[in-house]
Amino acid sequence: MSRIKIAVLISGGGTNLQSLIDYKDLGGDIDLVVSNHKDAYGLVRAEKSGIESVYLDSKGKTNIEYDTELLELFKDRGIKLVVLAGYLKIITKVLIDEYANKIINIHPSLIPSFCGNGYYGLRVHEAAIEYGVKFSGATTHFVNEETDGGPIIMQDVVEISDDDTAESLQKKVLDIEHRILSESVRAFCENRIEIVGRTVKIRRD
Ligand code: GRF
Repeated sequence: MSRIKIAVLISGGGTNLQSLIDYKDLGGDIDLVVSNHKDAYGLVRAEKSGIESVYLDSKGKTNIEYDTELLELFKDRGIKLVVLAGYLKIITKVLIDEYANKIINIHPSLIPSFCGNGYYGLRVHEAAIEYGVKFSGATTHFVNEETDGGPIIMQDVVEISDDDTAESLQKKVLDIEHRILSESVRAFCENRIEIVGRTVKIRRD
């Protein structure tokens, strides 16, 4: 069976992208990286690894128009899996219909806590600290039309200590993100994922 072609969407530094690039064997190949921000360092990471990197300007385009252009890029390259790795634009029906349960997102909390509209980046960790939860973590999930609402693939936790700040918690959670994102992508590429209703079952390798 031919290896799965992967596209990764980014908006910023791309440490999650880098974890995918560095992972021993994803079972698929990252063939395209697209950013909606021209100066996203993740584009540099892609170029350094010989991966096609595209800055797709979103100025003057609706989300539907933007996703229609993304879909064309994906179809031209035979992309079979889309990974959102620190990507901050809304995904519309245009992509969700074409890539149902084939778009994976990483979120830096234990969904359904501290997620949904307005919860991204440091804000997520500030909310966890403010609420006083004792554990936080990261979640990978399939993308549907509800922000951060699709079937959960993997989660893992970190303990929050009394002296943790939003910044120190973000660093702890980022390590978890890097691991579970790569493991989720690999499980998908190795066809070890089964979805029953909202429940995602993963056969261990
Ligand atoms: C990470 O916390 C990710 O979960 C969030 O954006 C942050 C930066 O990700 N969506 P990256 O370093 O750009 O991959």
